[in-house]
Amino acid sequence: MSGVRPIAAHRPKPGKDSPPATGHRRRLRYRGKNPRRFAEKYKEHDPARYAATIAKVIAAGKTPAGSHRPIMVAEILEVLAPRPGEVAIDCTLGYGGHAEAILPRLQPGGRLLGLDADPIELPKTEARLRSLGFDPGMFVAHRTNFAGLPQALAHAGIDGADIILADLGVSSMQLDDPTRGFSVKHDGPLDLRMNPQRGQPASVFLEKIHPDKLVRLLLENADEPHAATLAPALAGKLLPGTGSLAAAIRAALPRVDTEAAELSVRRVFQALRIAVNDEFSALDTFLRHLPSCLRPGGRVAILTFHSGEDRRVKKAFAAGLRDGSYSNVAEEVIRPTAAERRSNPRSTSAKLRWARRALCSS
Ligand SMILES: C[S@@+](CC[C@H](N)C(=O)[O-])C[C@H]1O[C@@H](n2cnc3c(N)ncnc32)[C@H](O)[C@@H]1O
Repeated sequence: MSGVRPIAAHRPKPGKDSPPATGHRRRLRYRGKNPRRFAEKYKEHDPARYAATIAKVIAAGKTPAGSHRPIMVAEILEVLAPRPGEVAIDCTLGYGGHAEAILPRLQPGGRLLGLDADPIELPKTEARLRSLGFDPGMFVAHRTNFAGLPQALAHAGIDGADIILADLGVSSMQLDDPTRGFSVKHDGPLDLRMNPQRGQPASVFLEKIHPDKLVRLLLENADEPHAATLAPALAGKLLPGTGSLAAAIRAALPRVDTEAAELSVRRVFQALRIAVNDEFSALDTFLRHLPSCLRPGGRVAILTFHSGEDRRVKKAFAAGLRDGSYSNVAEEVIRPTAAERRSNPRSTSAKLRWARRALCSS
């Protein structure tokens, strides 16, 4: 061997820019004192490690990034009254907040099937609930649309449920993540799909729709008062991002004051979200199948967030009471307490309705 030392392959010193040997990834850097963007809020994304930060965010009336605060938990537990040994279906598992409250009350011997259409969040929630000790004997997650509830029950070998819960709409994880396209506040692709592997993103939907159809859709899905002005300004246009859609809505309403224009922005997003996810038709199908999926005496609770949803639930429950499928239904809608609305502003528009399956029906 010559005395010349072989040149060592370049190995950067562990430091600022090198990946640590453990495979641990450095967190994203942010400008300024506090992280503002969803992906940068690394403490909020790790609640087990940063409990004090999470408590501060919640105390400020906000929802920690990457999580969801379940709404009207006490009221839902009261109307569903879960008991040991029972079978529960959470049709909108989301972050699993309601499921986490229901699951211990089903023990010993009970189980909960959690459904959700979202293939991105569902595995995270399944892992989160497993880490809390809910094993596959107690809890199973299944990615599906709740319109297929009878098939989901058959798939899980369940012949009827004692408890069914649906908490409609989107989760905070979906809403706050700009890459999903639900966020009015942060720019991202105009997608708005709960399952991005199905259907078409809102940008494509908008580019193809006729203005007359968009007027009807804005009225039906969001009671938008400026539907006739907005539809020609938006239909057939290429608006690839949430920011470009919001800007086009504001530009189409130059004489509307800022606060009212922002409400229109929210309503247009809601109307498009309902359309691209076919939410009303999924809800109608679900409501039709509900009685046959409940055991005699079984309870169902549904949380809605706008009049289009609540009207459908109210009508279906009233029809079920008349035809004897249900023995009792909520006479009045139940609203979150003032304290909950203050501490979690996302609960403000929530309405809870419940029904009980008749012990024997015609
Ligand atoms: C408001 S969040 C539920 C939050 C949940 N209750 C919790 O405590 O974390 C609504 C969830 O329902 C899901 N979802 C909405 N429509 C659905 C449908 N038709 N079928 C299945 N899941 C649906 C969404 O993907 C979202 O995760």
